[in-house]
Order: sequence, then structure tokens, then C-alpha cells
Amino acid sequence: MLIQLKEVKRDYTLGKTIVKAIRCVSLDIEEGDFVVIAGPSGSGKTTLLNLMGLLDHPTGGKLFFEDRDVSEISDGEATLIRRKRIGFIFQTFNLLPVLTGVENVELPLILKGIGSKERREIALKMMEEIGIRDVARHKPDELSGGERQRVAIARALVGDPDVVFADEPTANLDSETGMQIIQLMGKMHRMQGVTFVFSTHDLRIISMAKRKVELRDGAITSDVIQDSPAK
Ligand SMILES: Nc1ncnc2c1ncn2[C@@H]1O[C@H](COP(=O)(O)OP(=O)(O)OP(=O)(O)O)[C@@H](O)[C@H]1O
Ligand SMILES: [Mg+2]
Repeated sequence: MLIQLKEVKRDYTLGKTIVKAIRCVSLDIEEGDFVVIAGPSGSGKTTLLNLMGLLDHPTGGKLFFEDRDVSEISDGEATLIRRKRIGFIFQTFNLLPVLTGVENVELPLILKGIGSKERREIALKMMEEIGIRDVARHKPDELSGGERQRVAIARALVGDPDVVFADEPTANLDSETGMQIIQLMGKMHRMQGVTFVFSTHDLRIISMAKRKVELRDGAITSDVIQDSPAK
């Protein structure tokens, strides 16, 4: 099992109030899954993705990454696992504005210590696959929203991760571009066998995932296999 949650809880303390962002979630993510976390605003999607992406710790229950109890993994090792095994895609793209597209894509390879010539080749190859080779030397503010998110996808995939977490990757895109982005994620999922877990509350996009996990008030209300995976 890639990721396993057993009765995971995440409380936030705000002064004297406790916000139960994740009340009790048990969930298995298998290698090769293409999962959407669907749920209204405030249901806990971001909190859940941050926990599974080792950016945060549960306040109750157990979380396992490849059968290892995450509470026994040091912060330093968690950072290394994130660099080597996990890719992230964000709603606001999170590209560095002073760098060109290809330089943004190269960032994870710099952290891996890959030399400049080789990483440029790897980054351009990934951009070619994703259909943005032509804009490799553009800076983010010279790109459309869809192109920016493609750069972010290239950056998330370039280090050959096992799993990519995408928190509302289509929220800042028009509906058509959003669908194309999910189709691209579906293609990379099939071609490279990468596990994808993404969140959204857009119904058309929810219907494109193989598996739909519905979250309400910090708990799972349904977990189903859908018959219309991204084509
Ligand atoms: N750092 C924090 N401190 C306190 N409460 C928080 C914090 N982060 C999130 N929450 C609360 O936890 C709950 C779940 O938030 P979360 O951001 O995970 O929801 P979400 O499903 O991602 O919502 P959205 O669709 O708006 O992004 C909400 O009630 C939110 O107010
Ligand atoms: Mg959120």
C-alpha cells in the first residue's frame, strides 16, 4: 500500500476553539490510483492532502507511507521522501516568477543534485511530452493559466515521483482548460504509472477520476470507483 490512513484526525487550535478539520478518516491509496477528493469548501480537502503529502502531521490516528508509520519518520527524512517520491501541484501554480518555464521545471532536479546540462535535457523532454516545449523560455507572466499549470505539472513529474498531490489544480482555470489539465494528468498517469490524488469541487472534473472519495465536515461519506476515467 502506498498510503494508508487509520482513523486519522487533524485538529487546529485557534485560541480556545478547536477546529476539527479532519474528524476521522480511514483511507487506502494504492499505487496506480487516480483519485479525486471531492467536497465543499471547508470539508478538509487541503488538510487531508497536506497530511498525505507529508507536509503536516495527524493529531490522532495513524498515517503510513509505504507501510512506514509517518510519526516515526524524522522531519529531515520526510523532506527527502517529499523530494524524491512526491510531486505537488497547487491551485495558484506556485511558479517562481523570475525563472523561465524550463528553469522552474528544473528545480526538483537541482535538489536532486543533477548537473546543469543533464537537467536541462530532462526538463525539456518532460515539457515536450506535456506540450509546452515552445514556451520553455517564457517566464510565468508570459504564459496563460493553462500553460502555467502545465509547467507546474512538468515540475511535479520531472523528478519521476511515485505520487502527485494536486490541491484544486483547476480552480484558477476556465472549465475547458481545467478539463484539459485533468486529461493531461490522466495521460501522464497512464504513461508513467504515477499515482494522482487531486481535489476539486467541480462536478465535471470529479466525473473524470477513476475513484471518487467524498469528504464532508472532515469525514469520508463515500468512496466509489467510477466508470468514466479520464481519457
Ligand atoms: N491553519 C488553520 N488553522 C485553523 N483552522 C484551519 C486551518 N486550516 C484549515 N482550517 C479549518 O479546517 C477546516 C478544513 O479546511 P481545509 O482548508 O482543509 O478545507 P478545504 O476543503 O480545502 O476547503 P476549500 O475548498 O475552501 O479549499 C475548515 O473549517 C478551516 O477553516
Ligand atoms: Mg482547500
